Amino acid sequence: MSDPIARMNVLVDELLRHNRLYHEQNAPEISDLEYDRLFRELEALEAQLPLLVRADSPTRKVGSAPVSELQPFVHAVPMLSLQNGYHKAEPAWGGPWEDLLEWERGKPDRLGGLRRVLGADAPEAIAYVVEPKLDGLAMELVYQDGAFVAGGTRGDGTVGEDVSHNLRTIQNLPKRLTGAPAGRITVRGEVLFDLAGFERMNAEREARGEKRFENPRNSAAGTMRQLDPRLAKDRPLQFFAHSAGEHPEPPARHSELLEQFRAWGFTVSPLVRRCEGIDAAIEAVKVIEAQRADLPYEIDGAVVKVDEVALQEALGFVTRSPRWALAFKYLPAQVRTRLNSVLFSVGRTGQVTPVAQLEPARVGGVTVRNASLHNEHQMRRVLGLRVGDTVTIQRAGDVIPEVVGAVDEPGREDRPFIEYPNECPDCGHPLVRSLADESKPDMVQIRCPNSFGCPAQVEGALRHFASRLAMDIEGLGEKLVEQLVAADLAKRPSDLYRLAEKKAQLVALERMGETSAQNLLDAIEVSKGRPLERGLMALGVPMVGESTAKELARAFRGMDAIVAADVAALDAVPNIALTTATAIRGFFEDEGNRAEIAALQAAGVRFVPPAAPAAGTLAGKTFVLTGTLPTMGREEMKAKLEAAGGKVSGSVSKKTDYVVAGAEAGSKLDKAVELGVPVMDEAAALALIAGEA
Ligand code: IVH
Repeated sequence: MSDPIARMNVLVDELLRHNRLYHEQNAPEISDLEYDRLFRELEALEAQLPLLVRADSPTRKVGSAPVSELQPFVHAVPMLSLQNGYHKAEPAWGGPWEDLLEWERGKPDRLGGLRRVLGADAPEAIAYVVEPKLDGLAMELVYQDGAFVAGGTRGDGTVGEDVSHNLRTIQNLPKRLTGAPAGRITVRGEVLFDLAGFERMNAEREARGEKRFENPRNSAAGTMRQLDPRLAKDRPLQFFAHSAGEHPEPPARHSELLEQFRAWGFTVSPLVRRCEGIDAAIEAVKVIEAQRADLPYEIDGAVVKVDEVALQEALGFVTRSPRWALAFKYLPAQVRTRLNSVLFSVGRTGQVTPVAQLEPARVGGVTVRNASLHNEHQMRRVLGLRVGDTVTIQRAGDVIPEVVGAVDEPGREDRPFIEYPNECPDCGHPLVRSLADESKPDMVQIRCPNSFGCPAQVEGALRHFASRLAMDIEGLGEKLVEQLVAADLAKRPSDLYRLAEKKAQLVALERMGETSAQNLLDAIEVSKGRPLERGLMALGVPMVGESTAKELARAFRGMDAIVAADVAALDAVPNIALTTATAIRGFFEDEGNRAEIAALQAAGVRFVPPAAPAAGTLAGKTFVLTGTLPTMGREEMKAKLEAAGGKVSGSVSKKTDYVVAGAEAGSKLDKAVELGVPVMDEAAALALIAGEA
């Protein structure tokens, strides 16, 4: 057995593939007996190298393959990102396209400095390929001997999610390639929502009384993550190819690769141009921008790539991005439209936010009807909005549309300013004004204090409590929360844990029934065992997001200790600033919040603390590093291990506690296996350092 890690990887991939063939395509390639043999071989290897067991290993699954979650999708060649340059509104020297000039001619430390890195090897005019930067969902497709076998999302660049079942429904995605070489080829590109189709779908949703989708990119992502491919089939999605991962016979130029893609049957953007020299490339970037508003899909810039692969190789990478490519971002698209009115919306914490109701306007291909105005300061002092104003709005990719300013029109001064209401628009309770920060007298916070009597707040708090990053109560979505509140079955989160006593009422809810009611009760029961950090998120402690929640959980290891902690103790937690500590303390001093936490605990919610790390984390442990790690150099890993108290040594012996192995690990790995020293990969080592393993 030369390389057990490689063998384990092969086995996991193979078994996952056979799972998919069996469960999803109904087309098994091997007998059950053969499957079992592979499974046992993997189990035996995993028993020997327990720290190396892949998270997606089929041996980890209890019972049959879960149908409720997507399978991980591993990228053999990591999917990297692009460095950005920006259209400069106020350029220092080179005009709006300064960043592109800098990229070619500047210093090699920042954006790239292609010429200086290439030195004497730089051609007189570097050839570039200019392409639209497609604002879609990055995807990798795998072809084996010309046949589409699987595809997955980018994820963290190394592991994404397998969405083959949905990709298969995309019309222009070739299921079989024409004239491609034998072997394994991975093609990368974007899945995009057709804009006309997006508008049509939204109109239909609205007609059915459903919520409109916010933007095409997120809808494409949401569609691809669905388990049932029938949904994707009905949506106007397209795949555009733009790069390769694995390729048995890579061409010498990027432009030739794109031609090859076209010949094989892929759609490649017709806007792609090959240009000699950076000035020609800048012209091509402008041409694409001029067409932006008329394209049937969204783009947010242009990608400029060095065409010659030999030059690409000479240029290499800057951290996680190729030096040889630059994503040049356009200014966000802006248009003018009429401000019809301002709606005041009440959030889960009672904060009242102004939302501009606009005459529908197309911005960057999407129809915008409303835009957040953030707060009173923004609405009154910054924008000075008046009834009947014409406003300029803008939209940048995923970002929620915003109002940039009001257009100065004759007679505008005579119209009244838009004012905040005095009463809560949802429950009628008088609103209270307070200063969020003593040093900023302009920043008034306007809240409805009727926390448990205001339907908007009650529903918001329950929705938040049940959401995915919080207690993750499956099936408890917006509609159901609304029903529970309307039927007076739940006012606060702790009420959810008493729903079992009111099952008859629950069953009687519209579209509920016995089975759904029981499923909901089961999901609520499961949520009692969620980790402490999720409980902190669920309660909506101000200024506490995912990472702060983790820090708190790690530092205090129990809800009661957090409730009791004073500002100084909270401030002492790594990465928690004094303002955050004060806000957290304020939350836990509140009698209502304390009572609610006690009620949750009494109902059986455990707020499970994280496991204690090994004494002194890695103190007294000896590590040996070998092979190439996927995301960092060995020096960096060494520094991390030492910072956590570990020792790093050069050779493997019986005294070695762990070997951290990367790609092409050689004799040290063999030695570790021979001596029975546990071996782990980079991810496992990082988890160990973080005290999670
Ligand atoms: S090439 C090494 N070309 O932008 C990177 N990417 O910000 C190879 N993208 O993850 C990617 N349009 O998903 C390339 N014409 C284009 C692109 C493009 C959009 C996405 C891609 C990548 C992201 C990086």
